[in-house]
Amino acid sequence: MVSRVIPVDPFDLVLFGATGDLAHRKILPGLFHRFVVGQMPDTARIIGTARSAISADEFRATVRTAILEQAGEEAEQDDVLNTFLSRIDYVAVNATGPEGWDDLASRLRPDTVRAFYLSVAPSLFSEIASRLHSGGLATADSRIVVEKPFGRDLQSARELNAGLRACFDEHQIYRIDHYLGKETVQNLMALRFANSLFEPLWNSTHIDHVQVTVSESIGIEGREAYYDKSGAMRDMVQNHLVQLLCLTAMEPPSKFTPNAVRDEKVKVIEALDPVPDGDIARGQYRADTGDDSYLDHVGDPDSRTESFVAMKVRVANWRWSGTPFYLRTGKKLRARESEIAVVFRDPPHTIFPNVGHLRGNVLVIRLQPDEGITLRTTIKDPGPGGLRLKEVSLDMSFAEALGADNRPQDAYERLVMDVIRGDQTLFMRGDEVEAAWTWADPIISAWEERTDRPAPYDAGSSGPEDALMLMHRDGRRWRQIGE
Ligand code: BG6
Repeated sequence: MVSRVIPVDPFDLVLFGATGDLAHRKILPGLFHRFVVGQMPDTARIIGTARSAISADEFRATVRTAILEQAGEEAEQDDVLNTFLSRIDYVAVNATGPEGWDDLASRLRPDTVRAFYLSVAPSLFSEIASRLHSGGLATADSRIVVEKPFGRDLQSARELNAGLRACFDEHQIYRIDHYLGKETVQNLMALRFANSLFEPLWNSTHIDHVQVTVSESIGIEGREAYYDKSGAMRDMVQNHLVQLLCLTAMEPPSKFTPNAVRDEKVKVIEALDPVPDGDIARGQYRADTGDDSYLDHVGDPDSRTESFVAMKVRVANWRWSGTPFYLRTGKKLRARESEIAVVFRDPPHTIFPNVGHLRGNVLVIRLQPDEGITLRTTIKDPGPGGLRLKEVSLDMSFAEALGADNRPQDAYERLVMDVIRGDQTLFMRGDEVEAAWTWADPIISAWEERTDRPAPYDAGSSGPEDALMLMHRDGRRWRQIGE
């Protein structure tokens, strides 16, 4: 069954940083997909802005190229692409000076939803917000969208929040964590709260532990300067992995409204125990045959920035006491694979003779590369004579279950449409971001005070030995990456 597309209200979307990489790789192709399926109304308009003094035609030509590269077959129908491009305008605007703002204001329509999407460096967030506000561009029906990194610690996140809130109300601020836009991540909420099967088992009585893995095979090429100042903890754990943990651990909200959902997530973050140093493994990839090491990539033989983190996290509340969450993420690992694995406790007693120890069920929510859900179960091994058991997976791939017509949307497609609809459920609230930094800051500060290096691991491996030990000493094992 093809899902029904409900068009959003007409809008003016102003894209700051419109000539940048994210705009061309994700945001504009995402809008194009929404246009193709009919979700963007005829009167919607996109206004690109950046410093470059290019014409609207020149800008449209770059968007055409980007869409042809990213959007696949849909972009091959020239008339569709041309109609989409005709909705796009461009104004050169100086984010830190007066030039271009009046021109931009003159292109915006009154009584139309306005979305100001800041695909720019965070150091520009407050200044742009302030110019939108003082120039009268920020109407009551406006939203402002900001990208990560949202701060590099609690202090800077607070400053960013203060800068935005001085000009926009919290209900107008959309902080993107694109992991929340991934189809399977939302499916985790559907799985937990639209089925009665899981909730009675979703606690430490039945769940032994949870593994959250976001493994990437790419390195940091092209982003060396940013990454070396950030590292895996700031780049991935404080935001994406914490969000995945929250959705797994949160209590059922009383209703599916933005604040009810986000209230529950904040409670999880606030319940996270400080993580002792002994519960963390940091790593840095080293050269593989024909490849460079992290240190070569950043051009600094002394860099102590981690490209891998694994840690054991405790959610100190009634539901999860005694059930650790193991988080792991890294660059240049064996495969691109992201999943949440909920590992149930072993059966308490075996009635079958000679089968040895029976392992518990594992529910795997797969985010990447192919989205789906798997449940590891134990069944009888077919055949006569005796009763042998074997483990098999009940496997549900979204692509197969939902059919080709229901291609999962890219996270950005979904999130941009939510902005227009005014639905903040999948966006981070200011207090949520601050709570996540409050938890992450002591971990990062402790590293910054130390002089030792992250443990080296081979590019193409599963990470450093220390990460394996983190599990082994608890009598547990990581799920294999790239099997
Ligand atoms: C970004 C990080 O937020 O997420 C990148 O800055 C990372 O370092 C990326 O590669 C991963 O996103 P995805 O959707 O490819 O898993």
